[in-house]
Amino acid sequence: MKGLFLTLEGIDGAGKSSHIDALEALFKAQGRQVTRTREPGGTPIAETLRTMILTQPMDPLTESLLVFAARRDHIVRVIEPALARGEVVLCDRFTDATFAYQGAGRGFDAAVLSTLEQWVQGRPDDGALLQPDITLWFDLSPELAAERLAGARLPDKFESQPVEFFRRVAAGYAQRAAAAATRFVRIDAGQSRDQVWQQIEAALAARGLMGSR
Ligand SMILES: Nc1ncnc2c1ncn2[C@@H]1O[C@H](COP(=O)(O)OP(=O)(O)OP(=O)(O)O)[C@@H](O)[C@H]1O
Ligand SMILES: [Mg+2]
Repeated sequence: MKGLFLTLEGIDGAGKSSHIDALEALFKAQGRQVTRTREPGGTPIAETLRTMILTQPMDPLTESLLVFAARRDHIVRVIEPALARGEVVLCDRFTDATFAYQGAGRGFDAAVLSTLEQWVQGRPDDGALLQPDITLWFDLSPELAAERLAGARLPDKFESQPVEFFRRVAAGYAQRAAAAATRFVRIDAGQSRDQVWQQIEAALAARGLMGSR
């Protein structure tokens, strides 16, 4: 069986983590092995880098280099081996988040990010990029996301940014989605949990990923 690489994207508080359990259960019910992971993170090295990235102020190039270093380790040790075994990889954030946060949010040069993306995700033989097969983009207004997060947990370095930052990040996601319209599925994350899940199921069904039930 061919591996499936599915990513969840969207601003902080958009509802990504809230739906990953159900996604895992859905694929397991189809008899598939599931590797569940997140970025930045997913390996001991990448989790150490995550802590630095999310807690310490740093200039945007340093931050982008650390994000892509973490991603490289994650791809080599976890994502590619799991896909080669034919598993479903469910990843909470991936490179779209780097373009949205470090690129659009912090205003860092997208051309440099594209170069790093090519280095880290390019196949050695033909340069083809490792990209998700499908990206569920939880699109939610920054105001509603902030409301949902209020009191839910202590904010990290990004979560404590002002609403204007998340407006830029959201615009960055919209731009990535427009540039990769077949890979991206826009989920209206402002709806109820049940309605959000129905949208996810419909998107998977449209791609033949709901199994034979
Ligand atoms: N459809 C929904 N309606 C109302 N509240 C929701 C909905 N989906 C999630 N929530 C709540 O919103 C908060 C943020 O959700 P969640 O943690 O899944 O977001 P996230 O996208 O994973 O955020 P982060 O990027 O910060 O990890 C949680 O408290 C969650 O319970
Ligand atoms: Mg989350």
